[in-house]
Amino acid sequence: MKTYSIALIPGDGIGLDVTDAAWTVLQKAADKRGFGLDGTTFPWSCKFYHETGAMMPADGIETLRKFDSIYLGAVGWPAEVPDSVSLHGLLLPIRKAFVQYANIRPHRMLKGVEGPLKKTEFDILCIRENTEGEYSGAGGRVHVGTADEVAVETSVFTRKGVERILRFGFEQARARRKKLASITKSNAQKYSMVFWDEVTRELSKEYPDVEVSHYHIDAMTARMVMAPETLDVVVASNLFGDILTDLGAAIQGGLGFAASANINPDRTAPSMFEPVHGSAPDIAHLKIANPIAAVWSGAMMLEHLGEAEAAGDVMAAIEAATGQGIGTVPGKDRTDAITNAILAAL
Ligand code: NAD
Ligand code: IPM
Ligand code: MN
Repeated sequence: MKTYSIALIPGDGIGLDVTDAAWTVLQKAADKRGFGLDGTTFPWSCKFYHETGAMMPADGIETLRKFDSIYLGAVGWPAEVPDSVSLHGLLLPIRKAFVQYANIRPHRMLKGVEGPLKKTEFDILCIRENTEGEYSGAGGRVHVGTADEVAVETSVFTRKGVERILRFGFEQARARRKKLASITKSNAQKYSMVFWDEVTRELSKEYPDVEVSHYHIDAMTARMVMAPETLDVVVASNLFGDILTDLGAAIQGGLGFAASANINPDRTAPSMFEPVHGSAPDIAHLKIANPIAAVWSGAMMLEHLGEAEAAGDVMAAIEAATGQGIGTVPGKDRTDAITNAILAAL
């Protein structure tokens, strides 16, 4: 039997609950289609940080490298460990080290879910640059704590990085409805974003079948609320993509519905799958987290592994549950009840 090795990093807060839920569903989907998922759990988290002084062991990246995929719940417990420590100690280094430069985040309405817009006809694929830009980590602080303090955070945009994410977006658009929206702030940011616009225009010559639109990030936030049905593939930098995809989550009904895949398109290292949401400390002990974003992310993992039929089964099971009104209203159904409805449909 074909078996895939999966590194499971449940992380913190609701990350633990939604990973449990997703893993149960994925196991059942694999059983049904006759392949195996061999999971190894790594307790890397803010709790692990308290115990060891690090978010993951020094050889953590090398440990993960041998897996077929990585599945992550959520990382962060800001009341105890600063986010700048926890995220820079686990999630962000994995994305960079494994060159997971394409962060794919689909935003569409699942059957039975009523989003705040009361619209169902949109289907947006956000492609977020995931390894550089505003998250480069370059910068520093001088004269700390004095009246002369200066903090600098430098965005780094390389031709290689910008070209590959836009090319990835063009390819996705070509396989979909052939529309690409490129997001910048090139009216105010005259180096990085003007450069991004130039690369978009250069590449568009190779994709004459794809209709390109340029939007500034501010206008784009309004468009996503006012006219999401006009969008197909949306390509944005790391920070702009981060912000747009929480907005995308909101229009699709909430963070409990937004899935995400951190893809290494060249397959030179494992890709990582995780919901868009975080550890949700405000509901972490209540067992009411919606596991659908996590399960959907798991379906994206199956698809990436080449198990498209199993991925389709999982998506159909999610929509069978939501179609019956289970998990559609935030807080109404418990995590277990939603998971069981998906399992029953499978
Ligand atoms: P969050 O996404 O954890 O929560 C935002 C709001 O959405 C909260 O009200 C929460 O209860 C709700 N929510 C999130 N997921 C939900 C779900 N599945 N079901 C129902 N409600 C849900 O964002 P935050 O509060 O800004 O961040 C909390 C911590 O998580 C921070 O440490 C942050 O840095 C981290 N974080 C991690 C990731 C990740 O690991 N990928 C992503 C985002 C935030
Ligand atoms: C996400 C998260 C992360 C990001 C944080 C936790 C660093 O918000 O995956 O969307 O900004 O990439
Ligand atoms: Mn985010």
